[in-house]
Amino acid sequence: MDTHIMSSEQKFTEETVLWLKKHSPKHLTFAITRPEHFRFSAGQFARLGFRVGEHGYIWRAYSVTSAEYDDTLVFFVILIENGEISAHFAQLQAGDTILLDKTAQGFFLPQRFPDGRDLIMLSTGSGIAPFLSMLHQPEIWQRFDTLALAHCVSYRNDLIFNDEIAQFAEHPLVGEYVSRLRFVPMTTRETDADTLHFRLPESLKNGSLSQAFGLNFDKEHSRFMICGNPEMVQDTFKTLLDMGFAMHRNKLAGHIILENGF
Ligand SMILES: Cc1cc2nc3c(=O)[nH]c(=O)nc-3n(C[C@H](O)[C@H](O)[C@H](O)COP(=O)(O)OP(=O)(O)OC[C@H]3O[C@@H](n4cnc5c(N)ncnc54)[C@H](O)[C@@H]3O)c2cc1C
Ligand SMILES: NC(=O)c1ccc[n+]([C@@H]2O[C@H](COP(=O)([O-])OP(=O)(O)OC[C@H]3O[C@@H](n4cnc5c(N)ncnc54)[C@H](OP(=O)(O)O)[C@@H]3O)[C@@H](O)[C@H]2O)c1
Repeated sequence: MDTHIMSSEQKFTEETVLWLKKHSPKHLTFAITRPEHFRFSAGQFARLGFRVGEHGYIWRAYSVTSAEYDDTLVFFVILIENGEISAHFAQLQAGDTILLDKTAQGFFLPQRFPDGRDLIMLSTGSGIAPFLSMLHQPEIWQRFDTLALAHCVSYRNDLIFNDEIAQFAEHPLVGEYVSRLRFVPMTTRETDADTLHFRLPESLKNGSLSQAFGLNFDKEHSRFMICGNPEMVQDTFKTLLDMGFAMHRNKLAGHIILENGF
């Protein structure tokens, strides 16, 4: 059976949900079939959609969390109260059909940095998604001496990827580099001995993130990628500017690449 049914519009395919896991009432991971023609680079997002009524559609952007070389596409979705597409995801089950735009998009790509030694990945909430995909790619582990990932959420139960991140040590392609990884989970609305208890901008200003990573931040070595809550992205960006870092542009190499997570 061909699970990648081409629509008459030719802009998207109809894919099948292969498995789905509800980590909490609002945290969902799921895999869908991947059409052979669908190419993406780790850090890019896909557009997923559902049919609405007889002729309508709803589309939203979702970062791919799985590897470029995987046969399936895995996504992490946080359900938003009264969110329009969230209502569709809340009903989603294995075997259901989901629409996939044929073209992946985005420039949130670590290989855009021509230099630097340490990749510092700063995320809140669902903003961890593109970094999970990057961590599956051996060339990113080879390119940087240190991969430092911070995941900041409100509550400890929102840290649903801690185990998956620990399992990179066993990964057949990247496991050998795992000593390069520093992971700092952060919670802002409850304290825990294992997590840093600051928002990201604060943790940069007060030095606690640098200390938790065991890594000094400087212009020669540090390259920052920020993804998540748009206000956080802006506040963190401004903090890094105040610390002397600059936006990276293709024609003017800098230290920071941003992605608004919603
Ligand atoms: C480049 C890009 C990549 C994205 N990747 C992901 C992803 O991997 N996983 C994911 O869950 N979402 C991701 N999103 C957000 C996603 O596209 C939708 O906006 C989200 O699922 C809400 O859609 P909705 O129709 O349910 O809510 P809507 O009715 O459209 O929006 C309700 C409001 O909820 C807030 N909101 C939206 N998304 C979030 C969120 N993730 N966390 C907290 N508040 C939010 C916004 O303020 C929004 O205005 C991404 C967005 C962009 C632009
Ligand atoms: N009604 C509520 O009280 C409430 C609370 C949380 C989330 N929500 C809603 O639930 C959904 C998903 O939430 P989520 O928790 O996954 O995502 P989120 O609200 O974006 O929070 C994720 C993390 O980002 C932090 N953050 C938010 N704004 C920031 C900023 N300007 N600078 C730095 N850090 C910032 C949060 O800190 P803080 O914990 O300090 O905010 C939290 O640690 C959204 O619809 C959200 O609006 C509602």
